[in-house]
Amino acid sequence: MSSEPLLKVSGVETYYGNIRALAGVDVEVHKGEIVSLIGANGAGKSTLMMTICGSPQARSGNVVFDGEDITRIPTHLIARRRIAQSPEGRRIFPRMTVLENLQMGAGLDNLKYFKEDVEKIFTMFPRLKERQSQRGGTLSGGEQQMLSIGRALMSRPKLLLLDEPSLGLAPLIVKGIFEQIKRLNKEEGLTVFLVEQNAFAALKLSDRAYVMVNGKVTMSGTGRELLADPSVRAAYLEGGGH
Ligand SMILES: Nc1ncnc2c1ncn2[C@@H]1O[C@H](COP(=O)(O)OP(=O)(O)OP(=O)(O)O)[C@@H](O)[C@H]1O
Ligand SMILES: [Mg+2]
Repeated sequence: MSSEPLLKVSGVETYYGNIRALAGVDVEVHKGEIVSLIGANGAGKSTLMMTICGSPQARSGNVVFDGEDITRIPTHLIARRRIAQSPEGRRIFPRMTVLENLQMGAGLDNLKYFKEDVEKIFTMFPRLKERQSQRGGTLSGGEQQMLSIGRALMSRPKLLLLDEPSLGLAPLIVKGIFEQIKRLNKEEGLTVFLVEQNAFAALKLSDRAYVMVNGKVTMSGTGRELLADPSVRAAYLEGGGH
């Protein structure tokens, strides 16, 4: 690919105190791609997502988004540059209703599109429409995941970061969420960077993928290449290939 990537992470090191969670990470995501990141528990996947969003900040290396170095930019200003994150554990606002949560996602910049965008989310996840006046904290796990993704989309992101969208969800709901991600990518050109425990589903969905081990990227390739790779199969797919 010749054009500049939408997101370029170069040599990023991130620490928690003295512990180095990312040990020099290089990752690129191009406009219109779905890219996934797989790896064992504690590999540093969520840390990479959070470092892209500026909290915690990288201690060395840099993160360039849409041509701008955002490594040292405060996290609330990074959100305004149209990177939206649906974090691990779906941090929705539990006391706000579904509709209010979506409003928070839209932010001030996008309030003029609010009606139109809410309708889109409700078409995508009809369950949220039925539950629009219910408090977020009382939704089921799957419904909260839909809300978390819906809220991220309300900001009209150029890049959507999803951390474990399938965590704890029934296979049918996971399938539905992955279908919606694919559809948004195909129909609206949404660029997605995805962390997934469910490596099989992620690799099938993705144009490209990275494997992370102990804070380092150890392998990358097309989704298809990694699906076929014996070491990937042994470490991440055997026994769980559904
Ligand atoms: N706030 C924190 N303070 C100290 N150490 C942390 C903190 N958050 C994460 N870590 C450590 O950093 C390492 C990477 O964690 P991270 O959450 O990025 O892994 P992960 O790949 O997302 O794992 P999982 O698949 O379990 O979600 C782990 O060793 C973890 O214990
Ligand atoms: Mg994680």
